[in-house]
Amino acid sequence: MGIKTARTDHHITSLLQERWSPRSFWEKPLAPEDFDRLLEAARWAPSSFNEQPWRFYYAHRDTEGFDKIWECLKKPNQDWARRASVLMIASAHTMFGHSGKDNNHAVYDLGQSVFSMTIQAESMGIKVHQMAGFYPDKAVELLNIPSDIKPITAIAIGYNGPPERLMSNLQGKETEARARMKIEEFSFRV
Ligand SMILES: Cc1cc2nc3c(=O)[nH]c(=O)nc-3n(C[C@H](O)[C@H](O)[C@H](O)COP(=O)(O)O)c2cc1C
Repeated sequence: MGIKTARTDHHITSLLQERWSPRSFWEKPLAPEDFDRLLEAARWAPSSFNEQPWRFYYAHRDTEGFDKIWECLKKPNQDWARRASVLMIASAHTMFGHSGKDNNHAVYDLGQSVFSMTIQAESMGIKVHQMAGFYPDKAVELLNIPSDIKPITAIAIGYNGPPERLMSNLQGKETEARARMKIEEFSFRV
């Protein structure tokens, strides 16, 4: 058991137990065919009315697109996310295609697709770290995101490196145990 392994009260699949959000990444490319498998996993997530409102704007490292997405990140995230293999802006189409009405579950569905991708990545030895710390307006501008698509989170994807690769102020986060509320605090028998 590593320090980041979830100390669970009940048995769960090891993919969930071992998933965590690292900041230390090796500056290593992600093979396009492996990245395709992550998108494939996202593709098969459930969604309200099967609307599939997720939209991913992504770039592999050492490309102009990568620099553009990196520019959209807030400074504390820029410091570590520059070593990721792929950066992504996970976005949602917030209106139903069939009716033009608001899709109130679009962001929920996006989250499910991102988590599908995350668990697929975990099964392949690849880590995913989501970030709220980015500038959505900048993403819209730099990535030409259409007006009906809302950027929700930035995502770093890559291969976890050792804590020593990080700036010293970030190293502690890589080695502290993960913590969660008790089940009783978030679930209520009615
Ligand atoms: C929507 C979302 C936004 C997040 N934003 C950031 C962020 O801007 N910067 C960061 O370092 N981590 C961010 N995180 C990572 C969380 O801090 C992390 O998931 C949480 O502390 C639990 O840790 P674990 O994923 O390692 O279990 C974000 C996670 C999610 C799901």
